[in-house]
Amino acid sequence: MKALVLSGGSGTRLRPFSYSMPKQLIPIANKPVLEHVLESIRDTGVTEVGVIVGDWGREITEVIGDGTRFGLRVTYIPQDKPLGLAHCVRLAQPFLGDDDFVMYLGDNMLPDGVTDIARQFTARRPAAQVVVAKVADPRAFGVAELDPDGRVERLVEKPQEPRSDLALIGVYFFTREIHRAVAAIKPSARGELEITDAIQWLVEDGADVAATEYAGYWKDTGRADDVLECNRRLLSTVTPLVAGEVDAASELSGLVVVEPGARVVRSRIEGPVIIGAGTVVEDSHIGPGVSLGRGCTLRATRLTDSIVLDGAAISAVPGLHGSIIGRNATVGVGVGDHRLVVGDHTRIEVAA
Ligand code: DAU
Repeated sequence: MKALVLSGGSGTRLRPFSYSMPKQLIPIANKPVLEHVLESIRDTGVTEVGVIVGDWGREITEVIGDGTRFGLRVTYIPQDKPLGLAHCVRLAQPFLGDDDFVMYLGDNMLPDGVTDIARQFTARRPAAQVVVAKVADPRAFGVAELDPDGRVERLVEKPQEPRSDLALIGVYFFTREIHRAVAAIKPSARGELEITDAIQWLVEDGADVAATEYAGYWKDTGRADDVLECNRRLLSTVTPLVAGEVDAASELSGLVVVEPGARVVRSRIEGPVIIGAGTVVEDSHIGPGVSLGRGCTLRATRLTDSIVLDGAAISAVPGLHGSIIGRNATVGVGVGDHRLVVGDHTRIEVAA
């Protein structure tokens, strides 16, 4: 079996971050979403991975490389425009050949893994096997209607009036049958070749299309609040480790990782917290639920439930929570009125 990871697209819901980086590289517990995805694929035993990349291809290649670091062989497949999930399968056909494959959306997190589902698929080999989960508002997803035996009867992409609460959660298993389907379908009303339409084509053609309800934790990291929630979740499972320096005037509690070269001075760290390599925390109270990237500086700051990306600096902010601070950003306290230098589509909430 091979894998196809979809890491193109535009990511407009993650603005302003998507102006300067692909959403698949947003760090969750200090590791890009795409790395979590590749590790999940590696755990299924797959080694050959095709990665669809769009405008951010260069940045993604720089971070992931040839995949050796993950025990994988990665082939990059460029996509000029985000023309849809089924378009990605069309593009990847020369790479996939006649092999079975797992298609994994590069912005979806399933930290509990998909190895059991991969095993089920390999044992039974339906034409397609989708992974679904119950969601509160299915209108934002591909929605599956199942018969009592768990076979897919109907799939609809982002329906206005969903007839089921089972959403497709970004992992699909296919045999080569899918190539006939993606060749046959036409673009949807939003102009994309939808993978839901291709699978629906298989259903109507009489193919065996199965669904498995996912029992683990799952998150589409397409929006900032989802990124923060997923970060909290993953932080709660980290293995504590202090490889950097913590001075005698500091206090650590709960699950705390202090990476090599990081320094904690006169501070209170309330886990779960990860402090990235080379980051300095002074006179601050950090956590719970905080990931600090590499090379950050935090001084006299109180920070909870947040992600701070590499190189950012925060000083003298007495209460900051639920925040995502971009790479090399500076947050501090000035004199008098607030002063902001803010990029497009940035969200700032100032206490009254
Ligand atoms: O999160 C699960 C949902 O993902 C499913 O329920 C939907 O059925 C499925 O269509 C998809 O919906 P999204 O609107 O969330 O898809 P998005 O545009 O975010 O794209 C998903 C991933 O695929 C993302 O990593 C970008 C990548 N992509 C997307 C398109 C449209 C590509 O690489 N190329 C593309 O042409």
